[in-house]
Amino acid sequence: MILEKQLGDPKWVNIATILITTLITFKIISTFLLPKPKKNLPPVIQTPIPIIGGLLQFLKGPIVMLRKEYPKLGSVFTLNLFFNKNITFLIGPEVSAHFFKASETDLSQQEVYQFNVPTFGPGVVFDVDYSVRQEQFRFFTEALRVTKLKGYVDMMVSEAEEYFSKWGDSGEVDLKHELERLIILTASRCLLGEEVRNKLFDDVSALFHDLDNGMQPISVIFPYLPIPCHRTRDRARKKLAHIFSTIINSRKQSGKSENDMLQCFIDSKYKNGRPTTESEVTGLLIAALFAGQHTSSITSTWSGAYLLSNPKYMAAALDEQKNIMKDHGNQIDHDILSEMNVLYRCIKEALRLHPPLIMLLRSSHCDFTVTTKEGKDYDIPKGHIVATSPAFANRLPHVFKDPDTYDPDRFSPGREEDKVSGAFSYISFGGGRHGCLGEPFAYLQIKAIWSHLLRNFELELVSPFPETDWNAMVVGVKGKVMVRYKRKVLPVN
Ligand code: HEM
Repeated sequence: MILEKQLGDPKWVNIATILITTLITFKIISTFLLPKPKKNLPPVIQTPIPIIGGLLQFLKGPIVMLRKEYPKLGSVFTLNLFFNKNITFLIGPEVSAHFFKASETDLSQQEVYQFNVPTFGPGVVFDVDYSVRQEQFRFFTEALRVTKLKGYVDMMVSEAEEYFSKWGDSGEVDLKHELERLIILTASRCLLGEEVRNKLFDDVSALFHDLDNGMQPISVIFPYLPIPCHRTRDRARKKLAHIFSTIINSRKQSGKSENDMLQCFIDSKYKNGRPTTESEVTGLLIAALFAGQHTSSITSTWSGAYLLSNPKYMAAALDEQKNIMKDHGNQIDHDILSEMNVLYRCIKEALRLHPPLIMLLRSSHCDFTVTTKEGKDYDIPKGHIVATSPAFANRLPHVFKDPDTYDPDRFSPGREEDKVSGAFSYISFGGGRHGCLGEPFAYLQIKAIWSHLLRNFELELVSPFPETDWNAMVVGVKGKVMVRYKRKVLPVN
């Protein structure tokens, strides 16, 4: 009663009106006039030419740019590529964790890796929603699990033995070319299957070569230009689809089951019980070859170039082979390769210095904040492309001692420089949510090759230490890597 009376009182009506008016006025002022809580945006790279200056700088060479800007701007900075398209770099383990761990809804790969779609084909990887892509990556994981790898190793070893049996007693070879050939043969056998390896190798290699040629830097921005290399790429993709369709059908009809990635993909099923289609199997195999072939052959060449230029590590790798031979003779299998820790560190160090994938990208769909090692916060707005760089981050001096020196022992127990500064210090294989699924396969393959070479040949690098070929999409080794070889039997005692 008293309240009713009071609310009817004109004095209370006035007070309520004043209160509501004040609240509305404050809301209007705060929305339009008061400064918004300030975003702490990363510093921006200054470019001499407006609008497209950033793009030109990026295309001239991202690593050159990072080397110039990191000392000035620190671990987080933005480049305006063109108009309002920005790319923000997160360099080093302190600021790149979110890059590697974020969910696909926050930081996605789909947009930035779209350029792969015409090569991989429809219905796979970056052409499908994340939920389907996740299932397809499960197929990769299953095809690369240890039980499968054990079978692949036997094929890797027999491929290496067969390949090097064709070398003479002594001679000179371009090691880069030789290892490229051997890796294609091995990848064909383990991934594409024996039909391709034994009968269709030349045809399929030529088609993969055409797919490769279609992947030019321009294709990253314009994947469907009516230019000859794109037309050839599209024809090659169709022919590959036809070849694989024939192989898949013949396997299905004969009921034959092989131990290779092709078989795993044929047998894979989505959660709803749907089997993979022939087109999906072809696309996934192409994706596997693109992910694993150049990366592995480049790494095996760098590993060799460093071993042949560093007598201390060559001696350690030879000693390790002798010790393992004392226990296992000439036998090589998955578990024996896994004992080769010295060789592992030698390869890992070559890959630290020369990661073939120099730039990893995501597209940001949410604002997020990173904190630098100096304790400074930066807000990265939604809409930016976000990048990190294995080629640059793997040589940070506060993470790796004397970062430009080849020093495989930096990974030995007691030093473990790849772990001391935290996860995502060593990122040649990426890490976190999208870390490489083929890492164990790659190491096994490179170890199978190098253990065979170390045991059976004396090798000498006769050309100068190779330089990096920055122009390739998968950054590799420039020119020939000439090696003189002589057959030997590694004395065990
Ligand atoms: C030395 C050899 C290799 C290197 C340096 C390498 C490097 C990488 C890197 C850096 C990524 C992460 C990309 C990103 O975060 O955007 C990646 C992802 C991937 N790699 Fe490798 N890779 C190698 C060999 C292989 C092989 C042999 C295979 C398969 C046979 C393979 C399959 C994959 C797959 C399927 C992914 C995607 C994983 C995902 O997004 O969840 N890679 N690789």
